[in-house]
Amino acid sequence: MEENNVIRFASRMDQLPPYLFGMINKMKMDKRRNGDDVIDLGMGNPMDPTPDAVIEKLVEVAKDPKAHRYPESSGLPHLKQEIAKYYNRHYNINLDAEKETYFTIGSKEGISHLCLAIMGPGDSVLVPAPAFPIHIYAAVIAGANVMKIPIEPEDGFLDRIAHICESCYPSPRVLMLNYPHNPTGVVTDKNFFREIVKLAKRFNFMVINDFAYAKITYDGYVAPSFLEVEGAKDVGVEFGSFSKSYNMAGWRIGYCVGNEQIVSALGKIKGYFDYGIFSAIQVAGIIALRDCDETIPELCKVYETRRDVLCSGLQRLGWDIEKPKAGMFVWAKIPEPFAKMGAMEFAIQLMNKGNVAVAPGTGFSDEGEGYLRLALVENEERLRQAVRQMKKAMEQMTV
Ligand SMILES: Cc1ncc(COP(=O)(O)O)c(C=O)c1O
Repeated sequence: MEENNVIRFASRMDQLPPYLFGMINKMKMDKRRNGDDVIDLGMGNPMDPTPDAVIEKLVEVAKDPKAHRYPESSGLPHLKQEIAKYYNRHYNINLDAEKETYFTIGSKEGISHLCLAIMGPGDSVLVPAPAFPIHIYAAVIAGANVMKIPIEPEDGFLDRIAHICESCYPSPRVLMLNYPHNPTGVVTDKNFFREIVKLAKRFNFMVINDFAYAKITYDGYVAPSFLEVEGAKDVGVEFGSFSKSYNMAGWRIGYCVGNEQIVSALGKIKGYFDYGIFSAIQVAGIIALRDCDETIPELCKVYETRRDVLCSGLQRLGWDIEKPKAGMFVWAKIPEPFAKMGAMEFAIQLMNKGNVAVAPGTGFSDEGEGYLRLALVENEERLRQAVRQMKKAMEQMTV
């Protein structure tokens, strides 16, 4: 292409590395175009079906001409009431449907726009790392300074936060949490959230909890909502998603609940950017929240079995794997001697030599070096096959 001086980008673009999933996807698509059967454990993009009742409602409402106008941007009143009922039923939390709930075009969109509303140049944000990329880059795009804390620091996560807040000026404005955590699968309990609320009040920071994997839990573990602890609503909000609980990733529907002022700030900024979610999706969302509680344990059983198949397969190869108690991923330490290749190179070789797509840990910031993230989206048979192909690929690697 001829060089020209017309096309120039904002300087913030220089702070955005190529999006990891984009690169992995491109490699996978190139291989598939060549006829290779790539087993895709790269992205947490569910392949299992959305509940029938939800699809049927979408189709029904989509036939109504009235449903095609600009929607109610914060969410249909019935949908907002339904999420309030859901939080009451599942977590014993009372939400004001009108003021304390807001529907977003997926939780990723909501988190991104909320960051634009509550932080800017000169502000700092604490983000546990490794991290789902938007937890870091929403803040970067907003012009804020990201301070990473290891998700499992040796000196204790809470002490580390307190130390940073005491020693930095200005002290951080926001703490970004994500439990159950992607990519590591780390989970938490209400006591931890109680301590977070105490710290938030002591040091005046807001808390965002990304609760995308709220219901994808195993071995009897139940993930607490951040809002379950006293005082949480004074300091923060929680984002939820339909993508994982109901296999609705492509539909783009999520929500923000909690502190009224933060929810209102999200609404204010979104008012400039978008008009909300297609009404038919919102009505179908009511069905998901209201009628699909029983589909979730079935879904968890499917993931749990896949987790067991993948973890025991990798353990048989000699990998040191801890089974996650939640989420859709196995966070796997790359064994020696392969670890020294670096996670990206190892992932590329698994793709090239084994036809298995995985996410290198470095896609979740440098703290993920030495790890791979494997998504439990393929069926058991394909996961067994993936382990066999990984074994073969490793046999062919020269380290
Ligand atoms: C931690 C986390 N948050 C948010 C999302 C995106 O969710 P949504 O589809 O609701 O935007 C994902 C998707 O993988 C995720 O892993």
